[in-house]
Amino acid sequence: MGQATEDVIKQYDAYVMNTYVRSPLVITKAKGSRVWDVEGREYLDLFPGWGVSGLGYNHPWVMAALRGQAGRVVHVSNNYYHPLQWRAAKRLVEASFDGTVFFSNSGAEAVETAIKLARRWGEGRHEIIVMEQSFHGRTMAALSATGQSKHQEGFEPLLPGFVRVPFNDLAAVQAAVTPRTCAVLVEPIQGEGGVRVADDGFLTGLRRLCDERRLLLILDEIQTGMGRTGTWFAYQHSGAEPDLLLTAKMLGGGFPIGAVVAKRALAGVLGPGTHATTYGGSPLGCACILAAFEAVEKQRLLERVNALSPVLFARLRALKERVPAIREVRGRGFMAGVELGASGRPIVEACRAKRLLINCTQETVLRLLPALTITRAQLDRGLAMLEEALVEAAAQAT
Ligand SMILES: Cc1ncc(COP(=O)(O)O)c(C=O)c1O
Repeated sequence: MGQATEDVIKQYDAYVMNTYVRSPLVITKAKGSRVWDVEGREYLDLFPGWGVSGLGYNHPWVMAALRGQAGRVVHVSNNYYHPLQWRAAKRLVEASFDGTVFFSNSGAEAVETAIKLARRWGEGRHEIIVMEQSFHGRTMAALSATGQSKHQEGFEPLLPGFVRVPFNDLAAVQAAVTPRTCAVLVEPIQGEGGVRVADDGFLTGLRRLCDERRLLLILDEIQTGMGRTGTWFAYQHSGAEPDLLLTAKMLGGGFPIGAVVAKRALAGVLGPGTHATTYGGSPLGCACILAAFEAVEKQRLLERVNALSPVLFARLRALKERVPAIREVRGRGFMAGVELGASGRPIVEACRAKRLLINCTQETVLRLLPALTITRAQLDRGLAMLEEALVEAAAQAT
């Protein structure tokens, strides 16, 4: 570790609340799938900003939109109108289903909005069925909805009204429905939960069940949305259209903004004065959303994901044959999980030493969320480095 890195870390220790598990890497510049540290070393990033920079860092069209809008107006109060909010909302609706949009600043805030909307719509029915191993965010309601007790410990009492069932188990969801149930909340692919893909049949079964029992189907696509899996939204693989669609992360091409798309029939549930956020749907954020949509569309990034995803998974599956430590390879599109039989942390660190950035979740699952704009050569290089790290770790273990 160089002096400049050490100095920054020392100042963090003094002044920044220590709530994150951080690697000793100080990033000062980024472009596309590459980042540079404060000492000038270059890294290839296969997990850019937890998927936030999924168009690549500093996408030029998003940067141009940011600069252009910053010169006009950054924020206006939601008590007035501005021309970009309806355009961004319309674009989201065109990519999903007919409805109306509420803009938030983060994923968790989109989850909070959905919980409030479902409860108000339920008119007394307030229970929401959630999945084991799910992750919906760190604010109190989103945390209460999350199906991982480790994140909840010490923060009790949680918000009541969340009923946890095993993921991908339609019979368990069916059995959990009571006269108090108003909604089912699920991620089409559990990201933090270890890159676990919902079966298409599970999602279509949930859709049917929600129709039969008059429940809202809420899909958390905060990590899977905006093309990550090769369609605008991951539910589109199954055709199980939700009543509420939540998205964030890649939505603003790096700018912090989230959204809830609600079916048109739900447009009036949250009327004036029932829900708000000061910054949500700012002109700056909406300009970034529009630029992000334009990039995915005009640069044909969905096609790109669909063309390169088989390369990614073929390579990871071939690696599984060579490295016994790999238990399973899972995912869809540009969202991949490699489950190991042991802790993934040493592999993440070994990759970083090779100048490759990846993530590990659930202790043993290596997670890749490459930028949709990554080049074939970069992807090949990244996978070669990952392979090296895994093969070397296997050799050391024997
Ligand atoms: C599926 C899912 N939902 C919700 C969240 C929370 O989003 P945020 O961190 O923007 O609040 C995340 C973040 O990782 C997520 O992956």
